[in-house]
Amino acid sequence: MSKIPWTRELDSGLRMRAVGGLEDIERVAAFDALIHGAGSESTWRTWMRDHPQIQPTDWLLVEEQDTGRIVASLCLLPWRIHYAGIELRSAEQGVVGTLPEYRGRKLQHMLNLRFAELVQAGDFDLSHIQGIPYFYRQFGYEYALPLEAWWRLELHMAPSPPPALGFHCRLANLSDLPALVQFYDQAAAALDVAALRDEALWRYLLGPALHTETAAETWVVGDADGHSVGYFRIAYQGFGQGLIVAEVSLLKPEAALVALAHIRQVAIERQKPFVRLNLPSDTSMVTVARSLGAHDGASYGWQIRLPNPLALLRKLAPVFNQRLAGSIYAQLTREVVFDFYRHACRLSFTSGQLNEVTPIPPGSAPADLTLPPQLFAPLLFGHRSLNDMSPMYPDASTSDSARPLLEVLFPKLRGWLYMPY
Ligand SMILES: CC(C)(COP(=O)(O)OP(=O)(O)OC[C@H]1O[C@@H](n2cnc3c(N)ncnc32)[C@H](O)[C@@H]1OP(=O)(O)O)[C@@H](O)C(=O)NCCC(=O)NCCS
Repeated sequence: MSKIPWTRELDSGLRMRAVGGLEDIERVAAFDALIHGAGSESTWRTWMRDHPQIQPTDWLLVEEQDTGRIVASLCLLPWRIHYAGIELRSAEQGVVGTLPEYRGRKLQHMLNLRFAELVQAGDFDLSHIQGIPYFYRQFGYEYALPLEAWWRLELHMAPSPPPALGFHCRLANLSDLPALVQFYDQAAAALDVAALRDEALWRYLLGPALHTETAAETWVVGDADGHSVGYFRIAYQGFGQGLIVAEVSLLKPEAALVALAHIRQVAIERQKPFVRLNLPSDTSMVTVARSLGAHDGASYGWQIRLPNPLALLRKLAPVFNQRLAGSIYAQLTREVVFDFYRHACRLSFTSGQLNEVTPIPPGSAPADLTLPPQLFAPLLFGHRSLNDMSPMYPDASTSDSARPLLEVLFPKLRGWLYMPY
């Protein structure tokens, strides 16, 4: 870790800097626990010290120059995400907080400026945040992927006793690592947008993460021959009163049914009044739960900011080419103009291939798509279609002639981010 941390002098006797050493780790963990709840300290310490991808130097603090007291902080948590098979890097903004007596003095604005610099310097394709409502809109974020979307299964709806289908559930251990990696990869590949997870991350989740507030236990589902066929994860803590199922692999419906019976049993033992399935709606576990009577709860959303939309469009060109190839526009040769009011670009397609994305001045050419800049993230991530957005945003529009092409380029997607910590 760097001995001389990055530093920026601020007005009013304050200084912003990066976490620089073990002492800083302890101080920031204590500060964040002050803001986010006593008991969370070991979570932040474990993230900084033991997580295979999180860098302590990506944690920023603001301190009083004379006393050294920390008054605000946030951090950058790096993620690997796939978008229709193309790997992207995202910077999650997390653990944001300012001391009550320092709130409203734009400290989070200043920290966000530095965060944006780190995103740019680190060549991240996007940044995302779980975030409190509304606050992050001022930094260009918009709700663009489901978060805490959940299904409620009452205990009387779950099968009991477990049907004799030959499957069983047991707690995972380190010898399950290769199978878990494989099951996770299959589940991530079945989604259009998903977080990627390697063995080091799995090792962290099965080990150090168990001492954090984001801990989850991992249950392996086995068949009658003793072969592992999948897994699910139960969070120890989280929103609401229910027992939270935070993750599931691709399971056959019969295996999902046995898993649900097991989950119900765990819920009863832990005196949880219902089961909360925080899972993508098209997983077999949710489908089976719905067939038993589960209903959906209110969902929140990941907020996403695209630091460089043109570079992202270029990177995703193979995906657009593939979408065109499967449509009536397979041989498309034309230019398409996207106007985001504050910036604009021309996409040049030749024989169904996106060859170039060129910046042009906004308003300088007739636009095929006109969109407030922050609405591009929900469109690109398939969270909201143009048809969804247009009634609410008259400034989001397309010409009738371009609409079918834009629907091909930006379909609704199945996106879900299982947590990497
Ligand atoms: C939310 C929080 C981080 C804001 O910190 P801050 O240092 O006061 O932020 P800034 O001074 O940079 O920005 C405040 C501005 O945002 C505005 N704002 C917009 N939405 C807001 C919201 N949901 N909450 C707070 N402020 C909001 C304020 O009105 C203020 O605007 P103004 O300066 O024009 O009056 C701080 O209130 C806090 O630590 N809250 C408790 C922990 C928390 O909720 N953390 C966020 C977890 S994602």
